[in-house]
Amino acid sequence: MSEYIIETSGLTRRFGEHVSVDHIDLRVPEGKIYGFLGANGAGKTTTIRMLLSLIHSDEGSIQIMGRSLRRDREAILRNVGSLVESPSYYRHLSAYKNLKIISELMGLPERNISEVLDTVRLTPYAQQTVKGYSLGMKQRLGIAQALIRKPRILILDEPINGLDPAGIQEIRNLMLSLSHEQGITIFLSSHILSEIQSISDYVGIIQNGKLIFQDRIEELKKNSQTRLSIITDHPDEAYRALSAHGAEVELKNNELLIPITEGMSQAEIFKLLQPYSVQHVSEHTASLEDIFLQLTGKGESL
Ligand SMILES: Nc1ncnc2c1ncn2[C@@H]1O[C@H](COP(=O)(O)OP(=O)(O)OP(=O)(O)O)[C@@H](O)[C@H]1O
Ligand SMILES: [Mg+2]
Repeated sequence: MSEYIIETSGLTRRFGEHVSVDHIDLRVPEGKIYGFLGANGAGKTTTIRMLLSLIHSDEGSIQIMGRSLRRDREAILRNVGSLVESPSYYRHLSAYKNLKIISELMGLPERNISEVLDTVRLTPYAQQTVKGYSLGMKQRLGIAQALIRKPRILILDEPINGLDPAGIQEIRNLMLSLSHEQGITIFLSSHILSEIQSISDYVGIIQNGKLIFQDRIEELKKNSQTRLSIITDHPDEAYRALSAHGAEVELKNNELLIPITEGMSQAEIFKLLQPYSVQHVSEHTASLEDIFLQLTGKGESL
């Protein structure tokens, strides 16, 4: 069996001429938090809808828990809890009643209700009608609905969208405890890099329907190596001299950028730069934002 609990191959979806999801190969390891990052319209929700079999794919395949979603849809989806966009619930009923309706529909034991209410920390408000809930509480109820069947996989589309900092922190802690204490695999989408960075073990970046990066979050951070930034009076000549000696150097707005690597020592670099009157030297570590912009090649932020 595959080491990945969710694995897609060449997954593609078109709407008319537009390719919304373009041959993506997702690899989601079991028991981890996988952040699916992309700007508005990148294809996150479309991908998630296909993973949940809410819409069909045009090409490619989806394997979940080692089984084909096309062949074993029902058996697989029994193990998957999800929240896509806003949760739906009866506003005039309490959280407990809402969960009771769902658990009866699914034929689940009533004890699951108090367990999941506890998990999402709604027990003190369980008997209040949902219409008085804050946005964060409604979102937690949505996650409780997803958890009631005790899934092995939780798929959440933009779970922190619209929440205030305290609400975001609650959801973040909830995801971490579900992953660490219950071993649930969490696949969550977001357009906010810092959000994915703060809790994910793995990250997949989707841009214009294409998966442009997928790996451990540390691998993304590795790209954020420290570089020396050097300003000289003669940047073009200095650039040519360094390049001619095999230095990995980039010239950007008259600034020389040289990664601090095993390659050329700093002493060698400065020896080569001597004829070009160095004015200023500093160390520059790219943030994840910088890396993201490098990867996507876009000026727009996420
Ligand atoms: N039902 C549909 N009909 C036509 N086009 C669609 C449909 N659903 C999605 N699209 C298009 O597919 C692309 C991807 O949309 P999708 O909703 O998957 O993006 P997203 O990454 O979830 O964006 P957001 O951050 O705004 O939620 C967009 O260009 C969108 O307009
Ligand atoms: Mg979306």
